[in-house]
Amino acid sequence: MLKAAWSKLEAAAHAARDRRIDSLFSAEPDRVAALSLEAAGLYLDLSKQPWSLADRDVALDLARAGGIEAARDRHFAGAVVNASEGRAALHMALRAPPGADFKADSEPVSAGIDAVRAAMRAFVQAVNSGAKLGATGKRFRSIVHIGIGGSDFGPRLVWDALRPVEPAIELRFVANVDPADMALALAGLDPAQTLVVVVSKTFTTLETITNAQIARTWLRSALGKAGDGHLIAVSAAPKETAAFGVPDDQVFGFGDWVGGRYSVWSSVGLSCAIALGWQAFEGLLSGAHAMDRHFQTAPLQANAPVLLALAHIFNRNGLGRPVRAVVPYAQRLHLLPTFLQQLEMESNGKQVDAHGRPVARATSATVFGDAGTNVQHAFFQMMHQGTDIIPIDILAVRRASEGEAASQAKLLANAVAQAQALMVGKPEAAVRAELAAQGMAQAAIDELAPQKTFHGDRPSSFILLDALTPPSLGALLALYEHKTFVEGVLWGINSFDQWGVELGKSLAVTILKELEGGAPGAHDPSTASLVARLKT
Ligand code: F6P
Repeated sequence: MLKAAWSKLEAAAHAARDRRIDSLFSAEPDRVAALSLEAAGLYLDLSKQPWSLADRDVALDLARAGGIEAARDRHFAGAVVNASEGRAALHMALRAPPGADFKADSEPVSAGIDAVRAAMRAFVQAVNSGAKLGATGKRFRSIVHIGIGGSDFGPRLVWDALRPVEPAIELRFVANVDPADMALALAGLDPAQTLVVVVSKTFTTLETITNAQIARTWLRSALGKAGDGHLIAVSAAPKETAAFGVPDDQVFGFGDWVGGRYSVWSSVGLSCAIALGWQAFEGLLSGAHAMDRHFQTAPLQANAPVLLALAHIFNRNGLGRPVRAVVPYAQRLHLLPTFLQQLEMESNGKQVDAHGRPVARATSATVFGDAGTNVQHAFFQMMHQGTDIIPIDILAVRRASEGEAASQAKLLANAVAQAQALMVGKPEAAVRAELAAQGMAQAAIDELAPQKTFHGDRPSSFILLDALTPPSLGALLALYEHKTFVEGVLWGINSFDQWGVELGKSLAVTILKELEGGAPGAHDPSTASLVARLKT
């Protein structure tokens, strides 16, 4: 049944090649209404995608045949959906209101979540009220958040999206083992007024442990042993935090059923909760929870994560499009594409299914992007006239968080105009008429007109937030989390492991030993030559 549903989707997409997206609006008068929806305060318009309403229904049949509802229910019930690591993936439990009843692999987890949340809240309020002071009796004015990958992207994005223009507490992030990253983050900070929050699920990650050691030395050199009281650990590995020397009462834990890239809702969000305030953090959780409820309860044909995933699958598998752009027309969301690179490509960039068999069809697209309008002056030439058609998610925020209303109107106009231009284009005949009206000679028109022509027919999804608030941001991130899950289910892969990041890490350990004077290892000639060059 699933195979037949895929064949139907592929056939529908094949037929879609012979018609234009914009032609569908006259053929389907209720198209905009039928392909737009609201979910947890977000508005989605999927009408500029290449599917007809009948194709959308074929895609929904694929979702049904793929058992999306049953898979979703297993996911929420805490089944071991991450089989290769023998774990549930239950980030939804982290954002449920207190008193929920989630179980991860049959073990109750909600009471533990509530306890950590209460401890976080007490800590946040103590720091912010001045009840908790630094070793020399001063208030904390800055936080250095050390973590990488899922222990960095989410908090960094949340801070950037929601930070006050003039924050009472300055929050800086360090991820890279590049010494410059750490040096820049610490520059100008007073250790007596700085809290260092080291975030690592495993607490063994090379980059994070290296940077945590540097930060601890920095604290100790200014404050002596008392400086250790300024270092907080966030981890799912209490043995490792203890081995690092962090006392248990300075550790905030989370369950191993929280995947790194899904962890911002846990104590991984601690530094944001301090710097933004507890209410903001709770707002973020509540928005994500609202999206969870929508995903769980909305029928498939009105289910935002499901439809967003299906539109993507129509492009990715039906039309063979390997790349997708994500462009938020909101400077505060400029890190969203980076966040989604990990969320989507680490989750779904897999070549074998959850049983180790080669996948039947292409999985994750390459995701790239940055803030609009900036990218209009970077890669939009190719988006409009390149040889590849690159579907795009365009995001916009109706009301600006700050600044000039006139600028916001210009920003929104550009967001809408780009989606329109990509789809509608500008036919060669219109360009020719324009040039002729300017009095251009025929030979020049023949040369220039094709260069100024926009064929259009380039798909986009449009996501509109009313305002960028903690709840709307929470809902947006949860929307993409569930979209990624739906895709993973239909592709038959485990979206919650990441074996592909391991090989490079272990080779780096071997090469590091050589760079530090160890005996040369067995390498291919190119690698051996690079190692030798770096040693001289
Ligand atoms: O990038 C690989 C990865 O394993 C991610 O999945 C994870 O988010 C990141 O490293 C950091 O891991 P940790 O939180 O254990 O330091």
